[in-house]
Amino acid sequence: MNYIEFGTEKKELSQIVLGMMRISQMSVKEVEKLVETALSVGINAFDLADIYGRGKCEEILGQVLQNRPDLRDQMWIQSKCGIRIEEFTYFDFSKKHILDSVDQILQRLKIDQLDSLLLHRPDALMEPEEVAEAFQLLTEQGKVRDFGVSNQNPMMIELLKTRIKQPLVTNQLQLSAAFTPAFDAGFHVNMEDSAANMRDGSVFEYCRLQDMVIQAWSVLQHGYFEGIFLNSEKYSRLNEVLQRLALEYGVSPTVIALAWILRYPAKMQAIIGTTNIERVRDAAEATTISLTRKEWYEIYLAAGKSLP
Ligand SMILES: NC(=O)c1ccc[n+]([C@@H]2O[C@H](COP(=O)([O-])OP(=O)(O)OC[C@H]3O[C@@H](n4cnc5c(N)ncnc54)[C@H](OP(=O)(O)O)[C@@H]3O)[C@@H](O)[C@H]2O)c1
Repeated sequence: MNYIEFGTEKKELSQIVLGMMRISQMSVKEVEKLVETALSVGINAFDLADIYGRGKCEEILGQVLQNRPDLRDQMWIQSKCGIRIEEFTYFDFSKKHILDSVDQILQRLKIDQLDSLLLHRPDALMEPEEVAEAFQLLTEQGKVRDFGVSNQNPMMIELLKTRIKQPLVTNQLQLSAAFTPAFDAGFHVNMEDSAANMRDGSVFEYCRLQDMVIQAWSVLQHGYFEGIFLNSEKYSRLNEVLQRLALEYGVSPTVIALAWILRYPAKMQAIIGTTNIERVRDAAEATTISLTRKEWYEIYLAAGKSLP
């Protein structure tokens, strides 16, 4: 496992993160085994959000931590807030909502401090002053160690930075071999085709400039939760290339797909969402492989993208 320096205390975090969005149907014992397996292969970073399973995912991990308090010190636990699921879904970065959310997250997880808190999806009505007050209180009360964002573009982050004192140490963004709008626009700068549409303000380059960790989510999915591209007929060429490289490197196609993400030269983490312990063990191998430039571009093209 490779580790990157993360946050204000330069904590060594694994480049593979275990995402816990899909654990709501698992038993406490099964999740304990999942966490133990992750730790045994060097994964020490765990990603949650208050909305995952409408709180159930944090609750289950909280029960694991209650039964096994020895696990807490080995884990970097991150959660997110700012999405409200009520009669419809909307976004809320108000001071009150952030503070209430963190209290509820800590209660569900049965811990005193969250290692990092991310603002989940942009709230157009955000008042940076309110976020700043919330972050300041959470820091002073020792409830949150580090702060970051998710799915935010550079100007949103700049707006936040006009008021908040704490560094924003990470941006969690969707990226997979089959989901690359940010890279597509970069390749097609100043061109007339649709791939040239810049939708996110060069957010990947911005994160590199700001030394923010990029946490890639839905690393095996295509579209917006349309399913995994592995073994999908829609991505037959991509699967051919992944399988060939997998054979050459003596690993699984999943490992190649994750190595593709980690090859991007930022401070990268890939968040895996599997609930299967064998797949957790397998994914951990991704940091042992560094794809060549040619292999990286071959995968990009095999996913149906074009280069000028
Ligand atoms: N910030 C955001 O807005 C945001 C949004 C979405 C997700 N996230 C984070 O990112 C994490 C990962 O997202 P994700 O779950 O979509 O990631 P993912 O790793 O792309 O997808 C995981 C899903 O793929 C299945 N899978 C994996 N390998 C497979 C294989 N070889 N064959 C068949 N199925 C396979 C898993 O099933 P099994 O469980 O059976 O292996 C699971 O259902 C989440 O847990 C969450 O922490 C963040």
